[in-house]
Amino acid sequence: GFSRATTTKSIAERFPALVTGFFFFTWYFLNVIFNILNKKVYNYFPYPYFVSVVHLLVGVVYCAASWSIGLPKRAPIDKELLALLTPVAFCHALGHVMSNVSFAAVAVSFTHTIKALEPFFNAAASQFVLGHQIPLSLWLSLAPVVIGVSMASLTELSFNWTGFISAMISNIAFTYRSIYSKKAMTGMDSTNVYAYISIMALFFCLPPAVFIEGPQLIQYGFKDAIAKVGLVKFLSDLFWIGMFYHLYNQVATNTLERVAPLTHAVGNVLKRVFVIGFSIVVFVVILCRKQDFNSDWNWDSHSHCRRSHLFLNQGQHRRKQKGNFLS
Ligand code: 3PG
Repeated sequence: GFSRATTTKSIAERFPALVTGFFFFTWYFLNVIFNILNKKVYNYFPYPYFVSVVHLLVGVVYCAASWSIGLPKRAPIDKELLALLTPVAFCHALGHVMSNVSFAAVAVSFTHTIKALEPFFNAAASQFVLGHQIPLSLWLSLAPVVIGVSMASLTELSFNWTGFISAMISNIAFTYRSIYSKKAMTGMDSTNVYAYISIMALFFCLPPAVFIEGPQLIQYGFKDAIAKVGLVKFLSDLFWIGMFYHLYNQVATNTLERVAPLTHAVGNVLKRVFVIGFSIVVFVVILCRKQDFNSDWNWDSHSHCRRSHLFLNQGQHRRKQKGNFLS
């Protein structure tokens, strides 16, 4: 009996840490793809308020389709729960839009560097808003991050204030999102909660997109994008960034269900390390090489490219001096 019981246990039940690891891996993977595709869209279509609406809209359509086939079954919602989730959704929308304003304005790596301060903002809010005593050791453990981000900001070549301030506002918004989420802890499963938050956040994102970007979009935004990449690629890009945005957030929410909030927060910072690494490889190294052949190429950030270009040229120069003409 005993040996049969153990063998019929699934691998997932026997190695829960393996499953949690798989959640983290999937979350990071989807997020890296999202960040790269998203920045590619901003390079030819710089309308972050509208793109934020598209992200949420694709997710909401996906949720509606999933509910309609019962995967997952839609959890019932009432007025009381709606009231609890509204501030969470508002902060989700604000943080999302501000992150995207920053993505469109500076290098992806720089936005994520600033967003690495989120745990510091969380600690500050716990201490000064909620009145919890944060141990000195925790403040000290956050100090290297704060110093590192300050140094990175001072030397960042793609630096501009729009990119910096909007990423900072997103840090504040996401900190309040976690405060309100704690108050809105319910029996509902995380996939359903995230679906309801997406629907509400979509409504919060719509008005600013219409008022801030609506006129330019109609006048030349859409036309320019279609002229540059064609209608089919434009629409498929918007669809895929929406899908990846929704799926990485859903997996992130499901991961939070499995681990402690602090583990999740540390995991989120580690995620940014991966995004920073991959985005530098894609936008600075690959695109700058392409620039050698195609001067019309759209880039991540001109300044990054100039720096990397300079570096490549120096490298080539050095190799030539050594008599190596192979590369
Ligand atoms: C967004 O679009 O909302 C940002 O990508 C949020 O970034 P994060 O999930 O990495 O904090």
